[in-house]
Amino acid sequence: MVEQRVRWGILATGGIAATFAADLVDLPDAEVVAVASRSQASADAFAERFGIGRAYGDWESLAADEDIDVVYVATPHSAHRAAAGLCLEAGRNVLCEKPFTLNLREAEELVALARDRGRFLMEAMWMYCNPMVRRLKALVDDGAIGEVRSVSADFGIAGPFPASHRLRDPAQGGGALLDLGVYPVSFAQLLLGEPSDITARAALSDEGVDLQTGAVLSWESGALASVHCSIVGGTATAASVTGSQGRIDIPHGFFFPDHFVLHRDGRDPEKFLADSADGPRTSMRHEAIEVMRALRAGETESPLVPLDGTLAVMRTLDAIRDRIGVRYPGE
Ligand SMILES: NC(=O)c1ccc[n+]([C@@H]2O[C@H](COP(=O)([O-])OP(=O)(O)OC[C@H]3O[C@@H](n4cnc5c(N)ncnc54)[C@H](OP(=O)(O)O)[C@@H]3O)[C@@H](O)[C@H]2O)c1
Repeated sequence: MVEQRVRWGILATGGIAATFAADLVDLPDAEVVAVASRSQASADAFAERFGIGRAYGDWESLAADEDIDVVYVATPHSAHRAAAGLCLEAGRNVLCEKPFTLNLREAEELVALARDRGRFLMEAMWMYCNPMVRRLKALVDDGAIGEVRSVSADFGIAGPFPASHRLRDPAQGGGALLDLGVYPVSFAQLLLGEPSDITARAALSDEGVDLQTGAVLSWESGALASVHCSIVGGTATAASVTGSQGRIDIPHGFFFPDHFVLHRDGRDPEKFLADSADGPRTSMRHEAIEVMRALRAGETESPLVPLDGTLAVMRTLDAIRDRIGVRYPGE
């Protein structure tokens, strides 16, 4: 059983690792006790910046550190399988950044490993832990808009990104779909489950990653989701869920909303506002809180971000990549 204060290790020292470390500072029951990097100098600099006690210049030392309750894996997705696998093999619990892995095969390997070892594993799909997204899902599940007929969601950023950037590097799982498209896909599947059919189109870069992708997911019920992602244009990054008796609109930043609007047929629109007590809307604290709750409860999976849901999203991402012709080295 995990003690009152959860001891975190952070694996990698890039952009999101720094954001996560800064957000953990706000949680009195969390402590980052160790960090690992491919280089000792980066580990030392990160440790100094965030006041972390142990800095390792390799991943193995972090994985072998028994005085860590959970490791947060924040490498590019091309390295998630190796990094998370190493930690699970060594007996660590793992929170792994999104997209969970490069493809379904790698995801299945990690899930099998965690289940075999009885370790906690969760995709860092922070949107699923966001209080406003949870509220929206509860409303939909309660029938506030009737039966869900369609979902639309998009996530696009303008860039431009140089060819050297990880978003354009096939070796690092570059492209819009895995980095950004995972949000609209995960949002649609949160509300409708796994689709039964998928079509997609994309514009590819010279390097062979997707600059932008549009996909239509469909379900046996007749429900449809249209999802779009881009690294060559800043989109509204909004979402809308339409049901047989109404609609919910979430404006810019649908995966960390400050408000959304419920339109029930025949009634005035209702605006739902985020609670300021939940902290800044961009905070990753809610996924960390969920991990710590699950660890203290002795759970090996989070009901908010279940591994079968992660696998279903990876299956959809694989299918979309199949339709648009994006393959990564080694696939
Ligand atoms: N949840 C979110 O909101 C969010 C936001 C942004 C990104 N992400 C996800 O987080 C992951 C990292 O993104 P990021 O923006 O933080 O990337 P980043 O700034 O490039 O940092 C990634 C870090 O991973 C390590 N790394 C770099 N290349 C590597 C390689 N080839 N193999 C192994 N490790 C490597 C490096 O750390 P060392 O030098 O210390 O080894 C690097 O600083 C991605 O999967 C991304 O999709 C999530």
